Amino acid sequence: MARYAYVNGRYVDHRDASVHIEDRGYQLADGVYEVVGVRDGKLIDEGPHIDRLDRSLRELRIGWPVSRQALGFVMRELMRRNRLRDGLIYMQVTRGVARRDHAFPTTPVKPALVLTTKNTKHLGVDPGPGVAVKSQPDIRWERCDIKTVALLPNVLAKQAARESGAYEAWLIDDKGCITEGASTNAWIVTPDNELVTRQTDNGILAGITRGTLKKIAGDLQLRFVERPFTLTEARKAKEAFITSATSFVTPVVKIDGEAVGDGKVGPTARRLREEYVRFASEGEAVT
Ligand code: PDD
Repeated sequence: MARYAYVNGRYVDHRDASVHIEDRGYQLADGVYEVVGVRDGKLIDEGPHIDRLDRSLRELRIGWPVSRQALGFVMRELMRRNRLRDGLIYMQVTRGVARRDHAFPTTPVKPALVLTTKNTKHLGVDPGPGVAVKSQPDIRWERCDIKTVALLPNVLAKQAARESGAYEAWLIDDKGCITEGASTNAWIVTPDNELVTRQTDNGILAGITRGTLKKIAGDLQLRFVERPFTLTEARKAKEAFITSATSFVTPVVKIDGEAVGDGKVGPTARRLREEYVRFASEGEAVT
């Protein structure tokens, strides 16, 4: 159990940590977040995550609550206090506290910053038996590139997947194409060995894990294409997998109850996970 949370300048007991009832994140989902994976005490892809946080903040015209350097310090201090070795750091910035009004506050308010950590099991090269996904309509807004805390469509899709026994939901747009998962990016390997994931634009979140895997795929000289792909194409794929800061590369072996390929973890997902874990092992440990 994490002992401390960081709330607006203070390290507080996690059980007592709270924000004001008129925090705009709480009332209006007017805020953004990041999740940085931690493995063996090392932060994975810290720089790109903080760059994405900066972009999300700029898109919504929310200021930085502390300097970038200070945020790096807080992340490390919280890891040390919570003895975080494997898991994640969650950080959230909202526009701040103000009397409720949809429009931005007219007098300056300080953006609110909260950080928590979560311990999870140590993730290694073994991808396990793979997971099942369930297709769900993508009912989100047109700025899915911003990592906002407004996650209700994602929450409902994930819950529908879980109630059907699946681990993740794959979101389908009005053209029948898979955009991404409820909290992951979606990938397939076609019958002619093309590695495919959807292009990044306003329709999906540009996953940091996705970006790193794109580089790894290049190093491995895999045939990699960014383009839309349909649910029908995914059902006929050789392999499928999901990526995120917390799931790394996790094979998908079932889509809507039907096996992908032979229903077993495929060689491409296995190899990419291995390489991703190798990448995550680089750098200095904080804890
Ligand atoms: N989710 N797509 C969506 C909608 C996401 O929420 C996430 C991350 C991703 C993968 O991005 P990354 O590789 O940067 O983690 C794609 C985080 C883990 C979460 O909400 O907990």
